[in-house]
Amino acid sequence: MSHEKTPVVIIGAGPAGLLLSWALRDAGIDSIVVENRSQDYVLARIRAGVLEQGSVEYLTRLGLGERLKAEGLEHDGIYLQYGGERHRINFNDLIGRTVTVYGQQQVVKDLVTAHENAGSTIYYEATDVAVHDLDSAAPSVTFGHGGEKHTVSADFVVGADGFHGICRSAIPAHDITLFDRSYPFAWLGILADVAPSSDELVYALHEDGFAMLSMRSPEVSRLYIQVDPADDIARWSDERIWGALQTRLGVPGWTLTEGPITDKSITPMRSFVASTLSYGTLFLVGDAGHIVPPTGAKGLNSAISDVTQLAEALAAHYRQDDALLARYSETALARQWRVQQFSRWMTDMLHRSPGDLQSDAFDYRSQVGQLDYVTHSPHAQRMLAEQYTGLLL
Ligand code: APR
Ligand code: PHB
Repeated sequence: MSHEKTPVVIIGAGPAGLLLSWALRDAGIDSIVVENRSQDYVLARIRAGVLEQGSVEYLTRLGLGERLKAEGLEHDGIYLQYGGERHRINFNDLIGRTVTVYGQQQVVKDLVTAHENAGSTIYYEATDVAVHDLDSAAPSVTFGHGGEKHTVSADFVVGADGFHGICRSAIPAHDITLFDRSYPFAWLGILADVAPSSDELVYALHEDGFAMLSMRSPEVSRLYIQVDPADDIARWSDERIWGALQTRLGVPGWTLTEGPITDKSITPMRSFVASTLSYGTLFLVGDAGHIVPPTGAKGLNSAISDVTQLAEALAAHYRQDDALLARYSETALARQWRVQQFSRWMTDMLHRSPGDLQSDAFDYRSQVGQLDYVTHSPHAQRMLAEQYTGLLL
């Protein structure tokens, strides 16, 4: 039986939990992280790969920018493609801001390394993780680790345990409402050992469905196609995947170079927001409180935005100022709803909804009209640029 005390106990060692613990350390506040999976599992999880400019600046300010600066690929814009034509939206020209392509996996690796070097307390492979007394000033977390029962008492518990975690469900049902929207499609994503065939990301609407070209490095491509959420990855041979990518991404005079596929999976899409990110001495960050469909590349950036706000609020609390903490849920959710709106807009603009044929044909033409507008109006382009590179308000 081990009993520890720490100011903040964080459930979950995904990007949100690891970053919050690191930001608190930077502010001179100790924390303990409790994770139910292994460190190898956490390090191997492949997710999105675009960092907003504000996310890059925050990671850099916290001393996590060295490999990000050396290996991250700074992009001035993206391509939007429809009707067999590709249009560049140059964020840097439009509003003087950029994004950086750097895999979430790399962000997590940098955080794990930084914590290891600093000697942080992170319990991986914790079992039976449970939270207690969240409505009191003395909450605690219990779990098993290495055959021993652990109790950690804290001033605050932070739920950074993702969509399927235990913290959000620990909030009594009458104190929380869940808002969500599912989509009638999913993304089939691959990693391939081949140089990206485009200098910047390509988002394409095609009559067969959405497709996208992204990358992880000058040698590794990341590509996606829209599929049915009930589809089985076993039905998608490498040849079939490349065939669909060639059709949907193809434009005259451009070649999509194929290469060995090293990973493939199907991910469902959903939009989800909890009505509150706080309850008593519990605070939620990242996917525990909200999920976006990946089309706007906002999942990781939203987690970083929550962490930025919560770390500042907790630091203020230890300086005897609770105003920010009292407002954390409200301010984080206000930003999140703006991000939700953008992610849904991008998703609806670029995916084909299977429906009855007549409304389907109408929807497709309307989507093309929207893309025509966005790619030709400087006002619409600035709106896209401002949201894609990260809202400053
Ligand atoms: N006890 C301890 N840890 C848990 C528990 C539990 N009961 N349940 C889940 N976890 C862990 C998971 O194993 C995972 O490592 O919490 C972590 C949550 O990490 P993520 O799911 O990556 O969520 P978050 O850190 O909020 O990151 C958000 O991930 O899904 C993407 O698009 C999303 O990029 C965004 C980012
Ligand atoms: C990715 O590279 O995985 C990626 C990029 C942009 C998105 C989604 C995913 O919008």
